[in-house]
Amino acid sequence: MERLEDTSHLIHDKAFKQLIKKLKGETITRVCDAGSGKTSASILLKYFNIATVDAIIYPGDNRKKHPLEDAIGSDRLEIYEVDLTRSCVRKKYDFCYALLTLGEAQNFGNSFENLFHRIMDIKAKWFVLYDVLEDPCVHYRYIEQYLKEKGFKIVTKKIFRNPHPEHYPKVKYNKYKLEFDSKHFVGYLIKNLNIH
Ligand SMILES: C[S@@+](CC[C@H](N)C(=O)[O-])C[C@H]1O[C@@H](n2cnc3c(N)ncnc32)[C@H](O)[C@@H]1O
Repeated sequence: MERLEDTSHLIHDKAFKQLIKKLKGETITRVCDAGSGKTSASILLKYFNIATVDAIIYPGDNRKKHPLEDAIGSDRLEIYEVDLTRSCVRKKYDFCYALLTLGEAQNFGNSFENLFHRIMDIKAKWFVLYDVLEDPCVHYRYIEQYLKEKGFKIVTKKIFRNPHPEHYPKVKYNKYKLEFDSKHFVGYLIKNLNIH
């Protein structure tokens, strides 16, 4: 029995629904949740209702592991504790989702660029990247330039207003502590042209 979190009231759920519109007709059965948590895993299990989801979390990140184990309990969900910046994911996927993952790179001592490159190295045909527009740790111009140069196509880019902005007073950015308000989210649907 699946006990999915009801995400229908969340902006992330509504945003995901809009972002995957152009996937109509695609068969999505193998999914990777790169930087998982209860919300992203529940959204994936809900919208791809025949897919199996590999939920990747940083080793020992029990903030995410326990809710994933206790709350969801789906036999379509497998949890993997992997540092994406140090291990290569060999499995092939139809779809990979990174919901608010890139902004956390530095929390585990990694650079944004390194984590972003490793996520884009995952052998998936489609990606959705989704993060806070105002987060100084997420470099959107860099993302777009990298995708263009490395054989990815941004199929959809959308900005979503956050109905419940939060204030982040001390975000570690290199040797600085910066603050920001999460007023918007940016989402990309990306096609990997290197995979046929
Ligand atoms: C803000 S949480 C993402 C929230 C999640 N998508 C959700 O819906 O609840 C960031 C996630 O990225 C993971 N993460 C951060 N750096 C990572 C790394 N180097 N390798 C693997 N996972 C990482 C964390 O363990 C966590 O699961």
